[in-house]
Amino acid sequence: MYKIVEKKSLGPKQHLIVVEAKEVSKKAKAGQFFILRIDKYGERIPLTIADFDPKKGTITSIFQEVGKTTEKLAGLKEGDSILDFVGPLGVPIHVEKYGTIVCIGGGIGTAPVYPQARALKEAGNKVISIIGSRSSNLLFWRDKMKAASDELHIVTDDGTEGVHGFVTDVLSKLLKDNVHIDKVIAIGPLPMMKAVCKVTKPCNIPTTVSLNAIMVDGTGMCGCCRVTVGGKVKFACVDGPDFDGLTVDFDELSLRQRRFTKEEKESLLLYRNMLEKASKDKGECRCRQ
Ligand code: FES
Repeated sequence: MYKIVEKKSLGPKQHLIVVEAKEVSKKAKAGQFFILRIDKYGERIPLTIADFDPKKGTITSIFQEVGKTTEKLAGLKEGDSILDFVGPLGVPIHVEKYGTIVCIGGGIGTAPVYPQARALKEAGNKVISIIGSRSSNLLFWRDKMKAASDELHIVTDDGTEGVHGFVTDVLSKLLKDNVHIDKVIAIGPLPMMKAVCKVTKPCNIPTTVSLNAIMVDGTGMCGCCRVTVGGKVKFACVDGPDFDGLTVDFDELSLRQRRFTKEEKESLLLYRNMLEKASKDKGECRCRQ
């Protein structure tokens, strides 16, 4: 069992959890992820590693409630435990001195971008970070991102904080101002990563994206996380999750991401109905006491 030693809300439906996972924390590197299963009835879901502390033996992750399992995970408290916690999985990012790197985190994508920005800054790169969300109340880790960057730009869709617009607006402005960029790393929703690549492709700037494909085994055997990169079949769990964004088939991936939408909705509804029934039964019991 893996104990949750810290849990807090980072905004509407956004949560941070710190889990005691000594062996995983010893080997974790920026760019990797883990797969968890809450209990014996649970499904396996991948979450990215947002931070790790080998001294304390902990892994930090930030997740958004998007379905049954993430809602269930959000319901756990400090001191509760998770049954399975497998990792670190995936290929760590390659860290070297590239020059100037723009690290872009969209929404919850700021979490996995953070350890990458930190590792690349430590390697002597100039890191320009851009973090964006729909609104100010969904932004988090401004201070951590500031510390891991030479320059930090904040963007919100509704203009409640920082630049009013999208992360691509800031990226385009940097290019318009002739800022020399050697590499871009973009992590966030698929449309955002696709839009970033649309900006960087004409300038031929190497662009890495992190693909959050649906996963089952996480070992390259089930084929669930199949993606097409550079016309070749790859598996996000063992070949990624980071890939050359300029050659990713985003349209195929976005279709594949929607293939269980109906089942996911049904499962969430059943789970909520079960919770409601359990809470009513509890109320009735108290009445009878
Ligand atoms: S999750 Fe099964 S092949 Fe990647």
